[in-house]
Amino acid sequence: MNIAVSSASPRDVKVDLLAIACDDDAVAESPAIVALDQALGGSLRRAIQEERFRGKPGQLLTLHTQEKLPATRLALLGVGSRGGLKPSSMQSFAGRAARVANAAGAATLALVPPTSPVGERAAQLLAEGVLLGGYRFDRYISEEKRTPQTLASVHLLLEAAGAEVTAAITRGQRVAQAIVRARDLVNEPAAVMTPTRLAAVAREVAEQNQLELTVLGPRECRDRGMGLFLAVAQGSHEEPRFIHLAWKPAGAKKRIVLVGKGVTFDSGGLSLKPNDAMLDMKTDMAGAAAVISVMEVVARERLPVEVHALAPCTENMLSSTSYKLGDVLRSKAGKTVEINNTDAEGRLALADALSYGLELQPTAIFDLATLTGACVVALGPHIAGVMSNDEPLSAEWLAAAKAAGEEMWPLPLPDRLLDQLKSDVADMRNTGERWGGALTAGLFLKEYVGETPWVHVDLAGPSSTDKESGHVAKGGTGFGVATIFEYLRRVSV
Ligand code: BES
Ligand code: MN
Ligand code: ZN
Repeated sequence: MNIAVSSASPRDVKVDLLAIACDDDAVAESPAIVALDQALGGSLRRAIQEERFRGKPGQLLTLHTQEKLPATRLALLGVGSRGGLKPSSMQSFAGRAARVANAAGAATLALVPPTSPVGERAAQLLAEGVLLGGYRFDRYISEEKRTPQTLASVHLLLEAAGAEVTAAITRGQRVAQAIVRARDLVNEPAAVMTPTRLAAVAREVAEQNQLELTVLGPRECRDRGMGLFLAVAQGSHEEPRFIHLAWKPAGAKKRIVLVGKGVTFDSGGLSLKPNDAMLDMKTDMAGAAAVISVMEVVARERLPVEVHALAPCTENMLSSTSYKLGDVLRSKAGKTVEINNTDAEGRLALADALSYGLELQPTAIFDLATLTGACVVALGPHIAGVMSNDEPLSAEWLAAAKAAGEEMWPLPLPDRLLDQLKSDVADMRNTGERWGGALTAGLFLKEYVGETPWVHVDLAGPSSTDKESGHVAKGGTGFGVATIFEYLRRVSV
């Protein structure tokens, strides 16, 4: 898709669809609307009144211009109040406009953003939104049944646009492309997106972007003592893969390690999940998808910070070779773990990956994981839980999330819940009691990071969705990519 800035006025731009963001104060009085209404002989004002269009978030008004304007169609999109405009409203506006364009068979689209003048950040968010709004996962739908993607070219109507704005648009496109990749990885069925296949994708990302790649198979993981990760993998005939991608620019002052949970299918193992809970478990590698995909933006933007992406990838299956309840496993860190629930597999894979990550002596380490249903109970389906052993680091991470338009919220790691992870036969066990399940999972991981500043992101809720909205399509959301990138950009200055 071609995205360009144009300083043309909405009255003069010749496109198939002209989309205008409207906030909820006096839509009909806004200068852009008044000018268009004049050209249309008053019909726009009338439509706004008769359709009770007030610029409420999600409201849409479309109008054919009957050749009274160079633009063929007009769409007014409500974005809510000006004061309350969030980064995600910007992405959402652009995403909805792209969707309306495709539905109308439009090839060219012009966007009039809600705020003016538009800064760097807004330009980036608009570029992201317009690309993501056109996303759908339809490769398994017969060609004649797919909705055709007609949108090919987008003009952002911005008053003034310097070099920073152009760079921001390029950046937005790159971020969106990485999010699209992450969504595709999550949306592929587990039969396709196996650990081996994920490693092949990582190889493609590495080769296209001059990244270093190391892939460990079961033997190499055994040599490194990754007993927890391997126990999860032993129930499946699909081999595990431990993926390590690295971006090492000369002169980098910081080294960041990202860990993503890569369970390509979570049946629960012997602690088998019921059907409905298992239904979406191909998405249990969303953390891995995010950390692998973000590496391509890091490289293309040539960020002056060293970044390592680690993804322990495995299936969690049940068979006669599965790990069992009561098994005692030895982690890479040396601590032993008694298994009291084979469905708490993510923390096992992550613990060994965190230990591997510490060997790289990072400035800070982050993990992103679809770790607990309890986190979804706590924060709902759209907000990720953030736990940390370092308050300032966690604040920086949350600020990056806010700017990137992703919803995250801090959760505590209360020491007293650690008692729940005590074992009679091993150093600890892998699950606690029911209440506070997101926190005991976080506390389990905390045992493996030592003093290294660490942030744990439980994205079990927002990693996939069953409702489309704004720039987010049904299925995998690519959640995490935008925040990781924004965080890395902030620490690299
Ligand atoms: N992959 C699941 C968590 C999950 C749940 C992700 C819902 C996305 C949506 C994880 O491996 C799991 O099964 N967690 C258990 C932990 C429990 C056994 C302590 C859970 O949440 O029930
Ligand atoms: Mn599980
Ligand atoms: Zn899982």
